[in-house]
Amino acid sequence: MCGIVAYVGSRPAYPIVIDGLKRLEYRGYDSAGIATIEFDGSLLLKKKKGKVADLISYVGNSEPQGTIGIGHTRWATHGPPNDINAHPHRGSTDRLAIIHNGIIENFSAIRETLTCRGHNLLSETDSEVLAHLIEEVMSGSSLNLFDAVRAALSQVVGAYALVVIDKENPSSLIAARKSSPLVIGIGEDGSYYIASDATPIVSHTKNVVYLEDEEVALLDLNEGLRIRTISNDIISPEVHALEMEIESIEKGGYEHFMLKEIFEQPQSIRDSIRGRINLQQGELKMSGIDDHWGKWSNASRILILGCGTSWHAGLVAEYLFEEFARIPVEVEYASEFRYRNPIIREDDVVIAISQSGETADTLAAIKSAKAAGAHVFGVCNVVGSSIARETDSGAYTHAGPEIGVASTKAFTSQVAVLTIIALHVGHRKGTIAPERFTRLLAELNNIPELVEKVLEQAGRIDSIAEQFSRAENALYLGRGYQFPIALEGALKLKEISYIHAEGYPAAEMKHGPIALIDDDMPVIFIAPMDDVYEKVVSNVQEVKARGGKLLGIVTEGDKEVASLADHAIEIPRCDDALAPLLSVVPLQLLSYRMAVLRDCNVDQPRNLAKSVTVE
Ligand code: M6R
Repeated sequence: MCGIVAYVGSRPAYPIVIDGLKRLEYRGYDSAGIATIEFDGSLLLKKKKGKVADLISYVGNSEPQGTIGIGHTRWATHGPPNDINAHPHRGSTDRLAIIHNGIIENFSAIRETLTCRGHNLLSETDSEVLAHLIEEVMSGSSLNLFDAVRAALSQVVGAYALVVIDKENPSSLIAARKSSPLVIGIGEDGSYYIASDATPIVSHTKNVVYLEDEEVALLDLNEGLRIRTISNDIISPEVHALEMEIESIEKGGYEHFMLKEIFEQPQSIRDSIRGRINLQQGELKMSGIDDHWGKWSNASRILILGCGTSWHAGLVAEYLFEEFARIPVEVEYASEFRYRNPIIREDDVVIAISQSGETADTLAAIKSAKAAGAHVFGVCNVVGSSIARETDSGAYTHAGPEIGVASTKAFTSQVAVLTIIALHVGHRKGTIAPERFTRLLAELNNIPELVEKVLEQAGRIDSIAEQFSRAENALYLGRGYQFPIALEGALKLKEISYIHAEGYPAAEMKHGPIALIDDDMPVIFIAPMDDVYEKVVSNVQEVKARGGKLLGIVTEGDKEVASLADHAIEIPRCDDALAPLLSVVPLQLLSYRMAVLRDCNVDQPRNLAKSVTVE
């Protein structure tokens, strides 16, 4: 959580840092702040509760002029959102300031020691101790800033991405990371940029270095870029070329990023499957699997780990793998998996799914699975992310940057890639009939066109949303492949419209949730004509008999559910296994429009952040 940005160069830092903070606001938006070193040598700090826009209004015309600066947008963990808890934080003197993303687990003990030594800590945050600790290390030694940061961090337990500025070193930034991401941008004019992800950097430079865990970097206008580990080993920076384009992180005329990302799905799915389906040869290409085929062919179980929407993609994958590859699958919330005592075996294949590749629980779960000897395969969207680097092999989803907090295109890309993996493994193992395999390749290849058709119904979905938007509860029901979609539909509605929603297997409804149904309750049935269709029709009848406003997501040409429901949205006919890629789209649009009608901040829903880098 939290976004951090820093700049050192020859231009004023303020506009660069503010622009970067706007791009990172999806990571947290309850307070924001900036610190610069001004031309008179002073350390100038401005911070404010609220969004980056509130910080900008607060700064007004008195914009900092310094050419070195750090900025932060916060998602509160320790201490409520207010001006004092906002970053940057200073030490006891006015010499240095820090920004931090992560959690310092032993902050109470450090704080107590520092307080005994006369430090006056002002905030309730865990982060502030870092500024005081570095200052304390420097005051008792002749260490320079770089070494002092390393020494201070050797006393810290927890996760951090942090940047320090020091008015005694006005041409240097010091950055460090452990379990929270940091990217360094190298400008052609000798300037440096630092950010939580590449989005604030891409408009300035495409040359980046991804800082690794327990590395500390000095970015100095005279000395250049130097990296050492906390234990003082020298690291040679590896410069990567960013493949991101600036247009991909702009709204492109859409009202919200979420809407843009929903409409990007034909293209993002195309990008996910590109180069992986060979229709001529009738085969799939997935080198991350072929290179480790021994692990997959001997797997006695597949364990799928993820959180939120990625966990829902994992549930779809459970149906896919069991149907096509005939391997038993367990899907686990990463956050639960790591805190029980899971049985992990060396012949397990673990699939970790994450859009951001930075989710702390998923990362930690991967580490325990690896330690137990399992082969870990990552399905990530963000290239070079921590999870992508931590896993033994993997496949990128190539959905492009997803900025809206509610995940949409990342989900369909995850499902598309997982479908390819399940089909590929099934094909190689001979557990899928050749004719079905060939047919599915062709159908999957055509899915982007079918998603386009679903999107053509956006206007109709908007008018249904108008009728549902005042509801306080909603129920999403589906069976088989559509059960995870019911969960995903409910999550989308909850997180952006604040309407309480639940997803249930349609048949389970009789065991409790049916009691909730009254005349005002929207009930959304995801009921394509698949092999459980007849059963779902009975469930629709059961709800109909008890009131409830029914919306059916149905296959085009459907008469039965469509005639029972108050509203129906049609999706094109396709194989049961591919239908989740279509049926989720109207649910995304429905949640989006309901949230807009309720005046909610769709891209930045309350209390949430895009990337959950704390456990
Ligand atoms: O980046 P990840 O895929 O690991 O994120 C997992 C969840 O935090 C994420 O899917 C979250 O549930 C979304 N806000 C859902 O829209």
